[in-house]
Amino acid sequence: MPAITFIHADGKIERVETGEGESAMQAATRHGLDGILAECGGNAMCATCHVYVDESWLARLPAIADVEDALLDGTATERLPNSRLSCQIAITPALDGLVLRLPERQV
Ligand code: FES
Repeated sequence: MPAITFIHADGKIERVETGEGESAMQAATRHGLDGILAECGGNAMCATCHVYVDESWLARLPAIADVEDALLDGTATERLPNSRLSCQIAITPALDGLVLRLPERQV
C-alpha cells in the first residue's frame, strides 16, 4: 500500500500507510494523527483537513474542484498556492511517498 508522510508544524514527521481507496485524510485519521480534524468526515464541507502539499508533488495531484477551491478560501491558516484539502486527495499507487505539511491549526 502507498505510504504518505505528514510533517507537523513543529517539524515532527509521521509516516502513514494508506488503505485501499483511502483519501489522505482518511489515512491520517485512521492512524490518529494530530493536526487533521476532518469535522465533516470528508464531505468537502469544513476545511479542517487543510494541508500544504510538498512542492515536488503538486503536479502529480488531480486538479482542484470548484467546491474544494471555495473551501480553501476559508481555512484557519493562510491559503498558499500548495494548499489542498486532504479529504480530496485520493491516494493511488502513483502517490506513494507523498509529503504533506500540516498547518499550525485547523480551526
Ligand atoms: S474533512 Fe471536511 S473538508 Fe475535508
